Amino acid sequence: MYSANPTRYTEMTYRRCGQSGILLPAISLGFWHNFGNVTPEMQSRAIVRAAFDAGITHFDLANNYGPDPGAAEQRLGKFLHDDLSAYRDELFISTKAAYDMWDGPYGSWASRKHLMASLDQSLRRLQLDYVDLFYCHRYDPATPLEETLQALVDIVRQGKALYIGLSRWPYQAAQTGYEYLRQHGVPCLIYQGRLNLFDQAPKHEGILRQAAENGVGFIGFSPLAQGLLTNRYLNGIPADSRMAHDPRFLHADMLTPQVLARIRGLNDLAIQRGESLSAMALSWILSHPEVTSVIIGASSPEQLRCNLDALASPPFTPEQLSAIEDILQ
Ligand SMILES: NC(=O)c1ccc[n+]([C@@H]2O[C@H](COP(=O)([O-])OP(=O)(O)OC[C@H]3O[C@@H](n4cnc5c(N)ncnc54)[C@H](OP(=O)(O)O)[C@@H]3O)[C@@H](O)[C@H]2O)c1
Repeated sequence: MYSANPTRYTEMTYRRCGQSGILLPAISLGFWHNFGNVTPEMQSRAIVRAAFDAGITHFDLANNYGPDPGAAEQRLGKFLHDDLSAYRDELFISTKAAYDMWDGPYGSWASRKHLMASLDQSLRRLQLDYVDLFYCHRYDPATPLEETLQALVDIVRQGKALYIGLSRWPYQAAQTGYEYLRQHGVPCLIYQGRLNLFDQAPKHEGILRQAAENGVGFIGFSPLAQGLLTNRYLNGIPADSRMAHDPRFLHADMLTPQVLARIRGLNDLAIQRGESLSAMALSWILSHPEVTSVIIGASSPEQLRCNLDALASPPFTPEQLSAIEDILQ
């Protein structure tokens, strides 16, 4: 029988999401990996408990997280039912739709049909009446933006999601989205994009600034570049690492000598700062005032707890920031 750690809110930092009423933990937990049918259920359950016990109130899912697609939602649904049903109102659960989910013309992209049907399926798998946050997972250039956006507004009106988010939308479509959603009384809560030391596109493309200017929060995914920005690959490719056992999105040829040299340079800098590379990588993202939270992945409770050290990282000096730029050149 699980009983939550009574001091779970003492060490986490909570940040306001844009200009909304919502506070999110600076570190959130993602379910893209480690919650599918290939991961032992005990392992996933231990990660979820460690997260909740550390004050991580935000769990990030999507319809297709697995494998198999839907498995992560199903697994969390079971944990919510078994362990966390008494804590539903302490949790902020997001899911998404728009990537490939089922066969036929309605199983993907951002039509009203797909978004509505997919969310209904997600709610069944999660065993929930509503999610806190529903994202359009990607911009669909073939569907009229108004169709997608009105479906998102209607989802909130139906009570199936409390808030709406956009993920991976290009700048101009996001601007149209923010304005449409605001005008229709459902302001966009948050933008989700990849942001880490190796991929700073949302910064360079103005997505971070745009979110702040629109009163929208920003949450960064893959903040550790799927594990590259940790000590995981400093001395080869461990057999239990994502790169070795699940190379769908992270393969060995991404670990080039140049990438390895950057990892080593950043690791040396982290040691000088008195912390781990993962803590430094997360605190660098969190040092951007536009950022509400980072969504980490973790394959063990130990990794998760190690990443919490980022909350106590020292601020970056100008010299350290320019050292980072030099290393990444
Ligand atoms: N919106 C989108 O399109 C989108 C896309 C991708 C992800 N996301 C979201 O972002 C979440 C996080 O993505 P991600 O899993 O790529 O995040 P990540 O935090 O960049 O990478 C997580 C992986 O890094 C390794 N790791 C984590 N902490 C470690 C530590 N302290 N020491 C050593 N290794 C460590 C683990 O890999 P090992 O398995 O090797 O241990 C872990 O599974 C996803 O779950 C999802 O919710 C969203």
